[in-house]
Amino acid sequence: MLGARGGWWALRRCASLPRAVRLRVREALGAREPAEAVRVQGWVRSVRSQKEVLFLHINDGSSLESLQVVADPSLEKKDLTFGSAVEVQGKLVKSPHRMQNMELQAEAIHVVGPCDIWSFPLKMRERHPLEYVRQFPHLRCRNNTLGALLRIRSEATASIHSFFQDNGYVHIHTPIITSNDCEGAGELFQIETSREEKESVEKSHFFNVPAFLTVSGQLHLEVMAGAFTHVFTFGPTFRAENSQSRRHLAEFYMVEAELSFTESLQDIMQVMEDLFKTVTSTVLSKCPCDVELFHKYIAPAQKGRLEQMLKHKFMIISYSEAVEILKQAPQTFTFKPEWGCDLQTEHEKYLVKHCGEVPVFVVNYPYDLKPFYMRDNEDGPQHTVAAVDLLVPGVGELCGGSLREERLPFLESRLQRLGLTDAYQWYLDLRKFGSVPHGGFGMGFERYLQYILGVDNIKDVIPFPRFSHSCLL
Ligand code: 4AD
Ligand code: MG
Repeated sequence: MLGARGGWWALRRCASLPRAVRLRVREALGAREPAEAVRVQGWVRSVRSQKEVLFLHINDGSSLESLQVVADPSLEKKDLTFGSAVEVQGKLVKSPHRMQNMELQAEAIHVVGPCDIWSFPLKMRERHPLEYVRQFPHLRCRNNTLGALLRIRSEATASIHSFFQDNGYVHIHTPIITSNDCEGAGELFQIETSREEKESVEKSHFFNVPAFLTVSGQLHLEVMAGAFTHVFTFGPTFRAENSQSRRHLAEFYMVEAELSFTESLQDIMQVMEDLFKTVTSTVLSKCPCDVELFHKYIAPAQKGRLEQMLKHKFMIISYSEAVEILKQAPQTFTFKPEWGCDLQTEHEKYLVKHCGEVPVFVVNYPYDLKPFYMRDNEDGPQHTVAAVDLLVPGVGELCGGSLREERLPFLESRLQRLGLTDAYQWYLDLRKFGSVPHGGFGMGFERYLQYILGVDNIKDVIPFPRFSHSCLL
């Protein structure tokens, strides 16, 4: 049915033409029936002028596919070029082309905003490399690849919210400004006012205490899990890692969940796996053309792999097993694998390969490697905490999580040793007032997109990437 979302236009630009139903390109392409008096708006992706006929392709971001417009050459105008913004009114008819369902037979074309094609960095019918379009963060969304990526990102975001809402989680807006360093890694951006004259050291702190951009919403989620049982958050997080790597951003989005009354890492891993599989299936079924673009042009090896991965359980190995696997590897590593040392990217890559290029959970990491909040496993000389990382092919660490230390004496002594007791009184309070076994995890949203789409560089899966030495726009 046409016009359900289009509505009649009150304002008629061409008085001689009948009132038109406004359709998005996606609606026009998917229409079942021909229709008179349709109006479509968008940006010109191609212009081909022949003696008898003028062909245009118009895209408005609603789909990867553009709508073909067929017009009499008399409707051609000087400023009707690639990149210009147009409004076309005409008849929607069945297309004689096998590849396209509908096309628009133009009766009037209005150039809303011309485009200077000589200085416009995108060129007609060119497949620009991702590195090239990265230089133009204000324009690259008009390119097919970034267009597809951003539609997938939007769909995946909605699916993440649905997954948690459908499973009884309460969504919490955890703060972006915070006075704690959840991960204790010191990779914080400190917040200052732009006031140049600082009257005194004390006054220079707007909040009276040093404040930072959050590295994780976890501690605030733990507060909320103490009332709502299952909670999640999905927002921007910030890390001042001086890294130009293809997996790190200074501003990225993290999905985090926290579950009360949870005594085993298995439960946390189940949620991670269910979240991953549900969101991925939704993206595959809702954005088939957009995903196809990546699997055709960007990462052909990825084609079919995701469907396979969705059918199988993720693997689980312990950190100690991982170290043994690495020690027996027939290759040498830049960082020698040793119990007690962090797993490096090269190690993560090897482990995933060793397990058959499937997602792998690594559990129970050394106590001394992990942040203060992780639950002590109280095991032998190789002292570990109940931590879990999910490693995936091509990306490495996708999720990090743990059971949290819910026992007051354990937490008190750990915070004391780190000299953090005063700063975390409120966190200790949570262990005094109705403490329960609980745990949770965080998944890097950009790394998730990198993995499912096979995108090599994290800067190409976020609308406006921020990383060291770069904050364009
Ligand atoms: O492993 P991380 O540091 O875990 C936490 O922050 C926990 N507090 C989360 C929780 O339990 N609620 O970060 C979680 C994930 C990583 O596995 C990675 O995917 C992503 O966040 N991540 C980054 N993504 C892009 N750029 C960076 N600089 C990232 N740092 C972490
Ligand atoms: Mg981690």
